[in-house]
Amino acid sequence: MKILVTGGAGFIGGNFVHHMVNQYPEDQIVNLDLLTYAGNLETLKPVENKPNYKFVKGDIADRPFIMDLFEKEKFDIVVNFAAESHVDRSITDPGIFVQTNVLGTTTLLDASKEYGVKRYHQVSTDEVYGDLPLDRPDLFFTEDTPLHTSSPYSSSKASADLFVLAYYRTFGLPVTISRCSNNYGPYHFPEKLIPLMISRALADEELPVYGNGANVRDWLHVSDHCEAIDLIIRNGRVGEVYNVGGHNERTNLEVVKTILKALNKPESLIKFVSDRPGHDRRYAIDPTKLETELGWKPKYTFDTGIQQTIQWYLDNEDWWKHIISGEYANYFENMYGNR
Ligand code: NAD
Ligand code: DAU
Repeated sequence: MKILVTGGAGFIGGNFVHHMVNQYPEDQIVNLDLLTYAGNLETLKPVENKPNYKFVKGDIADRPFIMDLFEKEKFDIVVNFAAESHVDRSITDPGIFVQTNVLGTTTLLDASKEYGVKRYHQVSTDEVYGDLPLDRPDLFFTEDTPLHTSSPYSSSKASADLFVLAYYRTFGLPVTISRCSNNYGPYHFPEKLIPLMISRALADEELPVYGNGANVRDWLHVSDHCEAIDLIIRNGRVGEVYNVGGHNERTNLEVVKTILKALNKPESLIKFVSDRPGHDRRYAIDPTKLETELGWKPKYTFDTGIQQTIQWYLDNEDWWKHIISGEYANYFENMYGNR
């Protein structure tokens, strides 16, 4: 089978490419990525010379380019990770989120329809459901929870999901969607909470916690997410949405304190800064459908996964050190300088 993975130079896409190239030597994996600020070919070093792997640089929203690529490559499966993925950036510049996340997705859907792709999988997020109150631990997002987005990012992802489902109903395109909770693990770009806090704590720099740090995220190790997507593209029912999450809820403050403790750094590094506008309070996934229908079970708990991840950042300083200099240093200064 020939499998197109878009956004494979990013965090989750990169981990997924590793998984697929190593797990299925008989399949051809084509990684299409625009190499935006979040794309990093260093992530693909461990697989770049494997015979079943190929990288193509390009934009999922570039229609002529995508149509040519699909005509030439005759993909069996498309897995779309490519996206603008950072909520804070969507608050300062929403336009590119519409361009990539909505128009990029519809371009891939058109090409998949035109060239007879056998499965189109959309990698979506629990953020499409909005948030849950902090004082109702009994509530969880199920696949039937109405879409109720808060940020430009989540609105663009929800729009994309609706187009994916429309292409199933209207054109019969064989689609699936996964909606996962917050991922963490190797190759995570250090603008996101966990790698940001690890890299800054190691440098004894202040750790910016938004608001009072009481917001809750439901953390899943990236390799458990990759296993879930692999199962869904092979065994999931077309037209269906599958929630992915491992019941690992933590407040942001708990996460930051866990990292500080593991690195033997003082809590005095924590600096409470002004809150994210529209900040979602709590995410919590009910993964029952994925567990009962497809037999998925996460391998990591948060406690085992965070230790593995911290160790990875300690062992792979070269990977993240050059990211946090240059252009990203300017972004960080603009984002936090006046908070
Ligand atoms: P990321 O920002 O690390 O990677 C995104 C990748 O997409 C980058 O390599 C980037 O270069 C590429 N890209 C961006 N625009 C492109 C375009 N127009 N054409 C081709 N490539 C383009 O993101 P991530 O955290 O790995 O997230 C991957 C996907 O998973 C996204 O769709 C995101 O919405 C979804 N998701 C993320 C999480 C999470 O916790 N990170 C959780 C659930 C779902
Ligand atoms: O839930 C899935 C989503 O998780 C994905 O769809 C997104 O692509 C991904 O970026 C992530 O979104 P979040 O906004 O939850 O992740 P982020 O790492 O940006 O923030 C996690 C929490 O930590 C959130 O409550 C905001 C807070 N935070 C974040 C940063 C970067 C801080 O307190 N300080 C920070 O510096």
